Order: sequence, then structure tokens, then C-alpha cells
Amino acid sequence: MAKPILVANWKNNPKSPEEAAELLSALSRKVLLYKKLNLFIAPPYTYLGEARRKIAKFANLASQDIFFSSEGVHTGSVTPDVLKSFGVKLAIIGHSERRILGETNEVVAKKVKTAFASGIVPLVCIGESVRDEEGGHLSFIADQLKLSLEGTRRKEDAERLVIAYEPVWAIGKRASEAITPTDLAEMVIFIKKTLTDIFGREAADTIPVLYGGSVDPTNVESLYKGTGIRGLLVGRASLDSKQLCEIAEALISS
Ligand code: PGA
Repeated sequence: MAKPILVANWKNNPKSPEEAAELLSALSRKVLLYKKLNLFIAPPYTYLGEARRKIAKFANLASQDIFFSSEGVHTGSVTPDVLKSFGVKLAIIGHSERRILGETNEVVAKKVKTAFASGIVPLVCIGESVRDEEGGHLSFIADQLKLSLEGTRRKEDAERLVIAYEPVWAIGKRASEAITPTDLAEMVIFIKKTLTDIFGREAADTIPVLYGGSVDPTNVESLYKGTGIRGLLVGRASLDSKQLCEIAEALISS
């Protein structure tokens, strides 16, 4: 079995370089634990250098976004070549907090292609804002996934792609408000079916689907065991070294 994937999305935290250094030092006291998974830390860009130095032995660096081009000059943007120079291996693309600012599926698709061209693994985020009894959220997810992967069809791309299912209604809430394991298992099957439509069965089977939205140590086991996900994308709880450690332990033992 492949190692579980754990992505720590720090968003715009910690608020100072000193706090970031402290958190990174706390994480580095658990090298042996974190080596048992595929851990990615996605700090704000400003802490990439410090993070790179402190996590090299037990985790990989991720970015919270990627600019959609490596060509030309772009004031204020962090282009893939710069990310690569810091050793960034994976880029979170199309997070709902970016989509809400106007990032369209078209832009997401462009960023996915740029990530592939740069040798960075795209972690494509999808998720509905509301659920309805008639299952309208399923067609929303199918469309969002297909459009976000527009122009990405090759088997080699499937082998380097990761999907994160993050229902928007479950982000930033209490653990008890995360999706239920039954609904998650159904959604993973649906996402796999949609990926099969795009890439074919064999290639689709290789694509890991992660879950994100109000994950903390108390719900890891129920979300991970038997639902078909291959790992987690964690926001708030990843800013607390003790909680991240407990999440990692729960993932390993589930
Ligand atoms: P949360 O955030 O774990 O704080 O709900 C998840 C995310 O937005 O990726």
C-alpha cells in the first residue's frame, strides 16, 4: 500500500517568521513519524526558504497556488521556476478560497498544465458549496472536475495528478460538521467515475483522491478508513504541531 498523503495548508499563517520558525522546529522533532507518510507543508511564500531548511529530512514543500505561466515578467507573481528553485514538489490549485476571489475553472486548467510542464504535481481542489436532495452537487462536481482538467488527458498526467475533494460547506467548521464517512465514500466513487471518463479506468485508478474540510485528530480514522481516500488536506489543525502529529499517527494506524 502506498503511504498516506498529508498536506498541511497553512494559508496565511503563522503571522510572523518567528512563529513559523517555532512551528517548523516543533514539526522537525517528529522526523521518524512523518517519514511514514507523504507529508507536504504548504506555507505562505514568505516562509518557503525557512521551511525548506527545516523540513528537508521528513517532508516536501508545497505551494498554495501556482502562477499560470513561466514565461515573461509578472510583477507580484511567484512563477513555477521560482517555486522549483525552492524545491516545491506539489502545488495546491483551485482552492475554494481562491475560486471565491474569481479563479475560474479555465484559469485552474491553465495552472494545472503549467504545473505539469514545470514538473510540479498539481493538487486540484474541487468541492460544492451546497448539497441538494436531487443530487445537483454531483453534476456540479463532474463539471468542475472536467473543466479544471480541460486539456489534461494523457496517461502520464494522470500518474502525477492528485485531487482534493473539499466541500466548501465543510471548510473551517468543527470536526463534527465535516462530511460523513458514508457521503465521502459515495463521493469518492463518483469522482473516480468522472476521472475514468477523462483518463480511462486504468489511469484513473492511479489518481489519489484526498479529503479536506474540518479535519482534526478526532475524525481522521472515520474519514480515512474504508472511504477510498488516500490522504488529507488539512488547514487549521496543521498549524498546531501536536494536532498535526496526532493526525499523522491516526492516518498511519487506520
Ligand atoms: P480546514 O481547512 O481544515 O481549516 O477546514 C481545509 C482547507 O481549506 O484546505
